[in-house]
Amino acid sequence: MIGKLNHIAIAVPDLEAAATIYRDMLGARVTTPKALPEHGVSIVFVGLPNTKIELMEPLGDGSPISGFLKKSPSGGVHHVCYEVDDIVAARDRLVSGGARVLGDGEPRPGAHGKPVLFLHPSDFCGTLIELEQA
Ligand code: CO
Repeated sequence: MIGKLNHIAIAVPDLEAAATIYRDMLGARVTTPKALPEHGVSIVFVGLPNTKIELMEPLGDGSPISGFLKKSPSGGVHHVCYEVDDIVAARDRLVSGGARVLGDGEPRPGAHGKPVLFLHPSDFCGTLIELEQA
């Protein structure tokens, strides 16, 4: 059911410092920072030949990644994003198999403007999974 790895998201305390590490030390292509107030994060994308890395810094008080960074102050892998062809069909199959979808279970536009859902990490090997309808 899942398709390509769309991106791996890494939460960071300092987006500019993280972008510099990826651009200057690792020699990757890094986009300019973009604020996503509706998601409570600022992001850059690191373009790799086969996928992307999303670096995310908290934006605003109620950022959904603030708690994560409290536990991992220097940053860490926050979620992985897999592509699916039909996100509602994927959700229904997962829910009927006993998996928990976060929030109200309805797909919402993600960082790329495409519909996404998040799956409970406890049901998936301790990893937060984002599904994106590609
Ligand atoms: Co993501």
